[in-house]
Amino acid sequence: MTDFLMVTDLGRDGLAETLRLAADSKRNLAAYDGAMAGKKVGLFFEKPSTRTRVSCEVATVELGAHPVVLKSDEVGLGKREAVEDVGRVLDRYLDVLAFRVFAHGNLEKMAPLTTAPVINLLSDRSHPCQALADLQTIAEHKPLEEAKVAYIGDGNNVCHSLMLAGAMTGVDVRVAGPEGYQPAADITARAREIAAKTGGAITVTTSAAEAIGGADVVYTDVWTSMGQEAEATERIEMLMPYQVTMDLFAGAAADAIFMHCLPAHRGEEATHDVLEHARSRIFDQAENRMHSFRGLLLYLNG
Ligand code: CP
Ligand code: NVA
Repeated sequence: MTDFLMVTDLGRDGLAETLRLAADSKRNLAAYDGAMAGKKVGLFFEKPSTRTRVSCEVATVELGAHPVVLKSDEVGLGKREAVEDVGRVLDRYLDVLAFRVFAHGNLEKMAPLTTAPVINLLSDRSHPCQALADLQTIAEHKPLEEAKVAYIGDGNNVCHSLMLAGAMTGVDVRVAGPEGYQPAADITARAREIAAKTGGAITVTTSAAEAIGGADVVYTDVWTSMGQEAEATERIEMLMPYQVTMDLFAGAAADAIFMHCLPAHRGEEATHDVLEHARSRIFDQAENRMHSFRGLLLYLNG
């Protein structure tokens, strides 16, 4: 079975089909009633979550499947029990194993050992489920192959998945951030390799103005991700020149939309007025987490 640790695991056709199922089930949920009746979906969280926790549980229920939600203090991944053993045990009970973890490597340890697909609900390296909702939201504004997306700020897990997903669908992705906070070199290289085949483009720059010029979408995420709290002061100092303000947003296309995966740290990566802008799509994007996870479950279960 296909795992979903990185957005590239779906391949271009799988990604297109997942997005089609996401959009179609958003329009016509009744057509998918009972599509996963009798299946059990495990949702495991080593970090806090609001959107992922609720949208994935609701999407599971909408398809007639049963969600089992587990928190890290119950499981003790790698502490109470070896990561490999947790994966193999859960695999005997559940049809889908979805995990939010600190270390991406723990997903890589479990995925080859399970029959059920392993889904990444966010790791230190990527957030592929977020990228599905991001593409769905962008596509509701502009055809992906015509879209120019500027990601401003920390080159983190969300940025990585957006770059890869954008490259796979022909998006022109521009990332702006200071040296030392730019996306991982191997992700940038992989995204460029993919974009060369799809007509997409990947730019990484230190200039926010350059990235935003004419962009259809302006996207940002927190500067301090979960687990990086000890670095918060330094991160705020380094990334403040990349705050998405009304002035910066004005450099994008006249109809550009603003996106953020949420939760937002208001007054850090984006100002309150940008988050509340008439062209902010942050809550549509959050809603699309549910539709796109439904699309992913449908795709992975054939
Ligand atoms: N965007 C996102 O993954 O939100 P949560 O951390 O609340 O799940
Ligand atoms: N980059 C953030 C995303 C949260 C959804 C984090 O990892 O905390």
